[in-house]
Amino acid sequence: MKILFVASEVHPILKVGGIADVVGSLTKEIKKSGHDVRVAMPFYQPLKDKKIKPLNKVASLQIEFNKTSENINIFETFIPGTEKQTDVPVYLFENNRYLSNKSVYLDTKSFLYLKRFLFFSQAVLRAFPALNWKPDIIHCHDWQAGLIPLLLKIKQKQSTIPACPAGRNNQQSTIKTLFTIHNLLIQGRWNYTQVLKCLNLKGNEIPSLSEKMQGSYGDDFNVLQQAILNSDLINVVSPGYANEIKTDSYYARGLENVIQKRKKDLIGILNGIDTDFFNPETDQFIKRIYSIKRLDLKNFNKLDLQKKVNLKQDVEIPLFSMISRLDIQKGIDLVSQAVDEIVKMGGQIVFLGTGQKEYETILEKASKKHPGRVAACIKFDQALAQQIYAGADIFLMPSRFEPCGLSQLIAMRYGTIPVVRSTGGLRDTVENVKINKKLFGLIKQIQGTGFVFNDFSLPEFISTIKRTLEFYQNKRNWKQLQIRVMKQDFSWSKSAQKYLELYKKLMDTNN
Ligand code: GLC
Repeated sequence: MKILFVASEVHPILKVGGIADVVGSLTKEIKKSGHDVRVAMPFYQPLKDKKIKPLNKVASLQIEFNKTSENINIFETFIPGTEKQTDVPVYLFENNRYLSNKSVYLDTKSFLYLKRFLFFSQAVLRAFPALNWKPDIIHCHDWQAGLIPLLLKIKQKQSTIPACPAGRNNQQSTIKTLFTIHNLLIQGRWNYTQVLKCLNLKGNEIPSLSEKMQGSYGDDFNVLQQAILNSDLINVVSPGYANEIKTDSYYARGLENVIQKRKKDLIGILNGIDTDFFNPETDQFIKRIYSIKRLDLKNFNKLDLQKKVNLKQDVEIPLFSMISRLDIQKGIDLVSQAVDEIVKMGGQIVFLGTGQKEYETILEKASKKHPGRVAACIKFDQALAQQIYAGADIFLMPSRFEPCGLSQLIAMRYGTIPVVRSTGGLRDTVENVKINKKLFGLIKQIQGTGFVFNDFSLPEFISTIKRTLEFYQNKRNWKQLQIRVMKQDFSWSKSAQKYLELYKKLMDTNN
């Protein structure tokens, strides 16, 4: 099969969020099964500054957009692997007005933020003759690629109008689309009339275009809504999140009507992680590599981390961590309210991430209030992230909602125990810890992989932290739990199979 991934970011070429990890690692896994997988993404300014290699210009084309003719150059590079470069080609689309003049994500108050990806989607669909390659399936990720299914449907419809000569005009009609939603919250919305004008559409081309008034998402053109209505198949990144968005309007974010319409074609597939990259046995960024057999070496990483972020160096102090966008989706409000309590209970805590200014300030203040106990690293730093996964004891992720979540999986790979709220992918990947007693309490067996709570409330969160700390006091139990957690398989192999099944299903349907 020939599959084109279309996404706004791809790790390690360029990463802002989890979508980059998924595209970067899933493509490699699909490629292993012998399929022709390629990726398309914009050639942003910061990417050009990085001077990536190799970089070959492979095509040029012109498209009509917003009533002007625009030039596009396509460059080819490859996804770099852990040891050597992979053979997954990445097409970087260069255009000075829309794609290559600025950073990755733009101010959502400017139409350019949306226009950039409307332009990109049109460019991708026009590029196949110039590339001399046409996919069987386009696998679109999030709203940034969400216009593609709509544009393809319109083309398909136009090419079946009887007045059109059969054959060559049908070129695009056989391409199938899979749309993966990483986060339903971010939808890509803008004034309907302006969007249609930009795309040179009238609004009567296909039924979904006139559905703008349905549901509670207002009058805007909503790219995600159009993607859900027009893709051949849809998936979200965990079965738990699929269930939530189908049954609870809080999670459906105003799109409940469209989700209900497509619910038979929408499933959840759990994300995996790149287990070669995230591997405590080989990680280049950490002080001492370690494994299940040499778990004692994890302590060197703890001491090193404590030193690096100015926490008191002491292996006995339970070290909490959080690596996250500082956003209320991630429950940063809850954690910042719990900081004093965590310190009072004898813990330390290290934060890494950027986000809402308000929370950056709160965390910085907390680190000044509790020197040696609280560290606030307000930045994005891949090396420090790995050092935290390796050095911390406990990883906090009390999200309000979580389509999948990758950090809890990475933490577990490094034997760092997650504390999570039971939602979406967190519910699917972390099982609450219990001790099973057998033979009148003589044999104790640990079950579960982390500490889980249900209600998004401070008392529940704090009592879960207490429970975690009580468990931490028993060194033998804690070690057993770490070993259990490190043995979990979060590689892509199972989930990539599920994607392959979806691709096959798409290839088998003729319409
Ligand atoms: C988004 C979601 C996160 C998910 C990631 C990759 O960032 O918020 O839950 O793990 O995408 O799919």
